[in-house]
Amino acid sequence: MRSHYCGQVDASLVGQDITVTGWVHRRRDHGGVIFVDLRDREGLLQVVFDPDKAGMFAEAERVRGEFVLAVKGRVRRRPEGTVNPNMATGEVELLALSLTTLNDSATLPFHHDENANEELRLKYRYLDLRRKEMLDNLRLRHRVTQTLRSYLDRNGFIDVETPMLTRATPEGARDYIVPSRTHPGKFFALPQSPQIFKQLLMMAGLDRYYQIVRCFRDEDLRADRQPEFTQLDIEMSFVDEDDVMGTMEELVRFLFSTVMKVELPNPFPRMSHAEAMQRYGSDKPDLRIPLQLVEVGDLMEAVEFKVFAGPANDADGRVAALCVPGGNKISRKEIDDYTAYVGRYGARGLAYIKVNDAAAGRDGLQSPILKFLPDDVLSGILQRTEAKDGDLIFFAADKAQVVNDALGALRVKVGEDRDMIAEGWQPLWVVDFPMFERDKQSKRWTSLHHPFTAPATDDPEVLKAAPGTVLSRAYDMVLNGSEIGGGSIRIHKKAMQAAVFELLEISDEETEEKFGFLLRALEFGCPPHGGIAFGLDRMVMLMAGADSIRDVIAFPKTQSANCPLTNAPGEVSAEQLKEAGIRLRTPRKV
Ligand code: AMO
Ligand code: AMP
Repeated sequence: MRSHYCGQVDASLVGQDITVTGWVHRRRDHGGVIFVDLRDREGLLQVVFDPDKAGMFAEAERVRGEFVLAVKGRVRRRPEGTVNPNMATGEVELLALSLTTLNDSATLPFHHDENANEELRLKYRYLDLRRKEMLDNLRLRHRVTQTLRSYLDRNGFIDVETPMLTRATPEGARDYIVPSRTHPGKFFALPQSPQIFKQLLMMAGLDRYYQIVRCFRDEDLRADRQPEFTQLDIEMSFVDEDDVMGTMEELVRFLFSTVMKVELPNPFPRMSHAEAMQRYGSDKPDLRIPLQLVEVGDLMEAVEFKVFAGPANDADGRVAALCVPGGNKISRKEIDDYTAYVGRYGARGLAYIKVNDAAAGRDGLQSPILKFLPDDVLSGILQRTEAKDGDLIFFAADKAQVVNDALGALRVKVGEDRDMIAEGWQPLWVVDFPMFERDKQSKRWTSLHHPFTAPATDDPEVLKAAPGTVLSRAYDMVLNGSEIGGGSIRIHKKAMQAAVFELLEISDEETEEKFGFLLRALEFGCPPHGGIAFGLDRMVMLMAGADSIRDVIAFPKTQSANCPLTNAPGEVSAEQLKEAGIRLRTPRKV
């Protein structure tokens, strides 16, 4: 039908007859001449309909927004003074010789240029995807996957597909389950990740595996979480941490230099989990923000202000400060807003000191808590935080986790609000995670990563003796404050794997039922191995500068995990329920 894409018509075609197809982006009737900006995926082309061809002109008068046209015409230079530098095709226009309307269009529920609400955009996603911004995102995603595949292929990684109908894979979220018709009362689980399968592929001798794979997790959704999302999943044999991290850094550097023309640092900096929590209150610190948490607990042990002294004397407590340069100008109202903000993370208050004149000691400071703090403590705070005149120091005191969550989030919020986020890309490896943490309610140990991650010791007895202090061989890749990937060296010996299951208090029966096949596989010559999975959606979101991973997924779900386009999830017929052996607890309204 077409000889050229609209968006690719330029001055080199002047004088030629071409045929273009596309959608009417805009139509202007200039009394006697009709201009149509015709759009296809490559861009816009101005088409001119002159009244001298009466039949064609009448059809052009009928044309409206989003009609689908085929136009044959002659490319000509635009008249002097009408060149449009904002259009790639702005030097030329197409003088129409014939017009075929391939389809009409009803009036759209929202216009391309409008900032329509997301529910509407998702309901009419195919229209939303007509917007250049969305198309650009999908094309970027394509470039990213092509670039990753080419790198991995050149480096000996083999693309293998793993099952979607499988058993629960423990990554810490709820499973999506699928009833089995042939085994009534039994269910498949959709994979939270291909973790166990990729390890089995290493045991099979594949040596280097990758897959761009859908994962399913039923968890509370946020801007960077979807119930189904895509991982670049990777596993390698006969490797240690440095092998995996080195290869993965190279992959990400190659990706950024190829697609973004950005050179990332070589090597990426590394930071221990403990240091990340201490300095940034987060296991995925955004290093573009120049604010850091400062420990002040030891200064507060003897103060009479119980709010500080309590946590300062509690082994699980923490008192930390966050100094905001120039923060003196933060208003009372803003401080109240920040106090409410940290409240969401469990903080019961947000104390502050404004530094007007550091040299003047107590008299140069302004704060509701001054009266509770002796002079030496005040000067200790100023010294520790390196506060200057004009700064403001925030304080949080509570259980360490609350302080970290609250000040970690405040650090990012203040950084955003006060325009303190540096330009550019700041990748980081976070390493030396603890192997386990205690679940607050059940008091049981849970894996910080997943139960297949190797501890830093080879001796199961050492692990069992001190599960709370042994570190793991896991690593996370963080980019601009977003966790874009996580992985580990795996357990490759049965005794260690059994010890971990035991520490997690998974009974022998359950271990056998759920993971018996894995333990057996570990008996037949399992090579040392490790790997990583990247959140592809998150990576593309960052590269696209988008605010949500929904903007880089063609057909995403809403925050409440439904699809306004197809109305999924939907009901199934009584017949299907019967076949699957399921009776609903709350009968459906008919
Ligand atoms: P993990 O659970 O850390 O590791 O997941 C790897 C990466 O996937 C991304 N991610 C998500 N992206 C969008 N929506 C979600 N709901 C979501 N959940 C996770 C994150 C994360 O870093 N099997 C291990 C990997 C391994 O050990 O090799 C795993 O799945 O960017
Ligand atoms: P109060 O004595 O409760 O009026 O608190 C005095 C100041 O301490 C106020 O600015 C509170 O916001 C702050 N504050 C209260 N609890 C905490 C806490 N756990 N951490 C930090 N600041 C707090």
